[in-house]
Amino acid sequence: MTRILVLYYSQTGQLTRAVQSMMAPLAARPDVEIVWQNLEPVEAFPFPWGLMRFFDTFPECVHLDPPPIKPVAFDPEARFDLVILAYQVWFLSPSLPIIAFLKSEAARVIKNTPVITFIACRNMWLSAQEKIKGLLSGLGARHIDNVVLTDQGPPWATFITTPRWLLTGKKNGFWGIFPPAGVSEADIAGASRFGRALADRLDLLHSTTGPLLSGLGAVRVFPGYIAGEKIAHRSFMIWGRLLRAIGRPGNLLRRMVLILYIAFLVTMILTVMPVSILVRALLRPLLKRRLDAEVARLEAPSGSSTERLAEYSV
Ligand SMILES: Cc1cc2nc3c(=O)[nH]c(=O)nc-3n(C[C@H](O)[C@H](O)[C@H](O)COP(=O)(O)O)c2cc1C
Repeated sequence: MTRILVLYYSQTGQLTRAVQSMMAPLAARPDVEIVWQNLEPVEAFPFPWGLMRFFDTFPECVHLDPPPIKPVAFDPEARFDLVILAYQVWFLSPSLPIIAFLKSEAARVIKNTPVITFIACRNMWLSAQEKIKGLLSGLGARHIDNVVLTDQGPPWATFITTPRWLLTGKKNGFWGIFPPAGVSEADIAGASRFGRALADRLDLLHSTTGPLLSGLGAVRVFPGYIAGEKIAHRSFMIWGRLLRAIGRPGNLLRRMVLILYIAFLVTMILTVMPVSILVRALLRPLLKRRLDAEVARLEAPSGSSTERLAEYSV
């Protein structure tokens, strides 16, 4: 019997459906037992989010300082053959309930165990995954694969559709140019290819240190996003430190400084970001080798190649 633990937290249920889609081929097998663990915060986060509450969450996200989650139902001393860590990205960091779990006593369940990370987010997940890699390595886990699903549509469209969804709950497409928010139904259904590929390789779980899901288009890093994410993350870290020094989430003075930061952030996104993207595009031929190496590092362990897609797609 292969025992798999799936750890997840989703507000709208999108991430849950996506990871269920991946696990469906395994759930159908009599020799596989799947334990599902929802990582629920003691105090639920709102959905849709109020604007101020939304932004007031970023300092704790980037500084990995979560509120508590409810106790888990599984025995942390139990051994699993595989752990799936399914998370959404909040402010270029793992969402707070996932951080709370990884910093809890129960996280010892993943020591010496293969772990597959599974992300469903807008499209900015690089810094969050670096943080997760650090936390997993500190816990002695064997991180073997990473699967990422991102919101449908080009970045200029999801820059509108994702926040609109988070702040109003509206997910529909509109004006004939904006697609529905979130990951497409085709991509959610397509995640089952990872489950089929895993089902064929369960015997390798104990010995492998490398990926089982390569060749399936598990992730794709766009070189043009790397610098922008780094700049934004640095800015979140600096302002986050200042805001945390002022007070706890909800503190009045902190919220007033936060309004200043939101204005600064919007100005930066509309001015510095496009200039930085343009400059980087011009410099790309000169930086190509360094960028290619960075893309390969960020796409590890599963990579973006697609040579096994035909074998596992339905
Ligand atoms: C507070 C907050 C911050 C977010 N920040 C990011 C981000 O930095 N990068 C990103 O790609 N998506 C970001 N998202 C989108 C989420 O990763 C995710 O796609 C969305 O919350 C829906 O998840 P769910 O359907 O599983 O609840 C953010 C969402 C929330 C609620």
